[in-house]
Amino acid sequence: MCGIVGYIGNKNSSSILIKGLEALEYRGYDSAGIALIDNDKIKVYKEKGRVKEIRNNNDIDIDSHIGIAHTRWATHGMPSKENAHPHLDNSGLFGVVHNGIIENYGELKEFLQNKGYEFKSETDTEVIPNLIHYYYNIKKDVKEAFNMAVSELKGSYAILLISPLIKGIYVAKLSSPLVIGKGCKENFIASDIPAILEYTKEFYFLEDREIALVGDDKITFYNSKLEEINKDIKVIEWDKTAADKNGYDDYMLKEIYDEPRAVKETLAGRIRKDEKINFPNLNITKEQLNTINKIYIVACGTAMHAGLVGKKALEELTNILTIVEVASEFRYNKHIIDHNTLCIFVSQSGETADTIAALKLARDKGAITIAITNVIGSSITREALYTILTHAGPEIAVASTKAYVSQVVALISLAIYFKEIIDDKKELDNLKEQLLELPNLIDKLLDDTTKYQQIAKEIYQEKDIFYIGRGNDYNIALEGSLKLKEISYIHSEAYPAGELKHGPIALIEENTTVFGIITNEDIAEKTFSNLQEVISRGAKVILVSNLEVTNKKMNIINIPQVDNLLAPVVAIIPLQIIAYYIAKEKGIDVDKPRNLAKSVTVE
Ligand code: F6R
Repeated sequence: MCGIVGYIGNKNSSSILIKGLEALEYRGYDSAGIALIDNDKIKVYKEKGRVKEIRNNNDIDIDSHIGIAHTRWATHGMPSKENAHPHLDNSGLFGVVHNGIIENYGELKEFLQNKGYEFKSETDTEVIPNLIHYYYNIKKDVKEAFNMAVSELKGSYAILLISPLIKGIYVAKLSSPLVIGKGCKENFIASDIPAILEYTKEFYFLEDREIALVGDDKITFYNSKLEEINKDIKVIEWDKTAADKNGYDDYMLKEIYDEPRAVKETLAGRIRKDEKINFPNLNITKEQLNTINKIYIVACGTAMHAGLVGKKALEELTNILTIVEVASEFRYNKHIIDHNTLCIFVSQSGETADTIAALKLARDKGAITIAITNVIGSSITREALYTILTHAGPEIAVASTKAYVSQVVALISLAIYFKEIIDDKKELDNLKEQLLELPNLIDKLLDDTTKYQQIAKEIYQEKDIFYIGRGNDYNIALEGSLKLKEISYIHSEAYPAGELKHGPIALIEENTTVFGIITNEDIAEKTFSNLQEVISRGAKVILVSNLEVTNKKMNIINIPQVDNLLAPVVAIIPLQIIAYYIAKEKGIDVDKPRNLAKSVTVE
């Protein structure tokens, strides 16, 4: 998805902006551009393709101290230089970058065309600088013109405006992320924290429909009526190296190796072996929990898969019916939701448009809402009643790895926390001990990945790969299959092992690869039988299991024995690594797989 960076201060803005755009490359984009104020004029440099095309433009190195920059992921209009941001109004006085979608741009464009404005691009964005110019002609005041223009926009936006008429950058947002980083005699703006993490740890978060004027020494915030408001600074404890590759070939590999730390930090301060679990900022009482008759877990993609594991834990430990639904479905389905419903929204970025829309819907119907997210200050944290932070640190690779394991342990901890509230006593010491042991177990799995690399070499040319399991093993299969397809482009499906006979087994032929996952002794025999059935039809089986298995017909990956609720955290490690090495064998850019974006901020 699109990325935004803005800078004002005493340094050369172009180098900071380009560095910021490079830090945002992971989000996926197809064109890039920057606009700088130079001698009372706006200069724009933009290209289709990579940020390095901008960096290689020698003209750009001018002495400018105010600028805005953008990476574009095409929505309205194909990837091209003309459609790339920034966009200027017809007079060249106003330069804008924009993330999001302007749903009413058609009407606005027609309105402006009738007033004589001409458009050079196919984008929805180009209406914004022209609308600002239109209102500027009436009001002769940039702040008022900016506010009048943005208040007419429907849809979602994070907008930065520069103009030689102002000493600063105007910013506005609606349902699209934007942070302002505070420096010393300089300030930074970005759609994502990692773009400016190198310069500051102090951030302001705008609420929807607020605007700000970011100067080099002062930031002024306004509500939509243009009354000045105060905002608190939030300190983000991520350090800069957390957003670097740190010697690894790719962010994805670095993030897989960061999983022990991510799990440890997500548990830290919450779980201690001989104490009740503690979520200091959750204020849910026994009386409230007793009235809750169902829980929804709503999320997208990998976060939804973590939710499936959470459902198991919540139902097993609290006996409360728990339903998992993808956010894009949840928001349009009819649900019986009231104040006896608890809705948990899981999102690494905290900015996924569908998840946020689903949250608002559940909240408006009276549900108690909890956000589980990795990004402090993200939109989801501002919409939910309670927030649980996973402490995975910045996740840059498009494919989610360390966020998944932290979401899983956060959800399981939450289930134990609820059980202790309901039963009014400390319990499940053994499960807590095993949770605390998970970082060591993951470390051991990461110690020697030779076998996983070997398997990747053997199967990277496959066209179809299947993953099967039952119960939590099916949840693991779903996540293993998603990881494979998104970064290797191999078609892959996950099925509950017992479903094979109801259709999918027709796809099994000589040499089809099937991953079997077996971590639950109680139902192991059933899945073994299903694996035998595919072997008899010629399949090659790779089994991920924590049971003692000797079977010459299967390639066996042993993982450590843990309580079945926790099995996804260990079983996913070999599957993530195999997917990673398959993608490497195929020469794919694992951090930026085609067509995907890290945070999906449009519907
Ligand atoms: C897969 C992946 C996506 C995300 C999904 C939700 O590896 O990363 O499926 O899990 O887009 O994103 P968040 O968690 O940011 O809401």
